[in-house]
Order: sequence, then structure tokens, then C-alpha cells
Amino acid sequence: MNNKRITVFRKEHFNAAHRLNNPAWSVERNKAVFGLCNNDNFHGHNYELIVQVSGEIDPETGYLIDLKILSDLIKEEVLNRFDHKNLNLDTQEFKHLNPTAENIAVVIYDLIRAKLDERYTLKIRLYETERNFVEYPTEW
Ligand code: NI
Repeated sequence: MNNKRITVFRKEHFNAAHRLNNPAWSVERNKAVFGLCNNDNFHGHNYELIVQVSGEIDPETGYLIDLKILSDLIKEEVLNRFDHKNLNLDTQEFKHLNPTAENIAVVIYDLIRAKLDERYTLKIRLYETERNFVEYPTEW
């Protein structure tokens, strides 16, 4: 029997504050483009993170990946770094990168990808609100 390809998902949650701003632009242009997300004093979001890992079931364990290992990896690389932080002020990753949901998803992908065995494929879905979410990478 060929090993079956399958996908597992791990859902996590973190709270963080941010402010969207492009320092190369005028105050007016930043307000026009980023609206409330440009407020000087930051604001918070309850981010929902879904980490999607695909690959072949290990015939010995019957697992794709031990979810405890995946959960620990997300905790170490993402939650410990970003949970209850001001993304603009408290993190290296967003000191010079606008902390949009798009950029946060790419940063999270890179952090997990660096520690995840290369036999797995990885996708990140990040909800900034219940209605607004992004996915990275996109393939089509
Ligand atoms: Ni915002």
C-alpha cells in the first residue's frame, strides 16, 4: 500500500497590538489608506492561527506528525514571540515591516518552516477578525 497523503491542522490563538503605518508616506496618506488601523496609540486583535501540515502518514505510528511536537513548535516560534506583544514595538520581525495580516502570516510561515522537517508542506491561515483572514502560501 502506498502511503496516503493527508493534512492535519493545529489551531492556536494569540493576542497582539499593532499599528499599520508606512513611514515613507505623509500622515494624511497613512490615515487615508490604513484608517483606524493607523491610530497613533495602537490597537489589539485576537488572532486565530491555523497551521496546516501535509505529507504522508508514517506507517509505523499512523501519524502524519505528532501534534504535541507541532504544538510545541508553534508555541516556541510564534506564541512566545507574539502573544500579548505590541508587534511594532516589542518584536524584531515588525520593527521595519508593516504588521498587516499578510505580513504576519508570511513571518509565521518562515518561522515554522525553518524548524519543520522538509518532508512536510506547510500552509498558514491567519484570522485577524472573524471575517478577515489570509492564507500563505498561495498556489495556483
Ligand atoms: Ni488592526
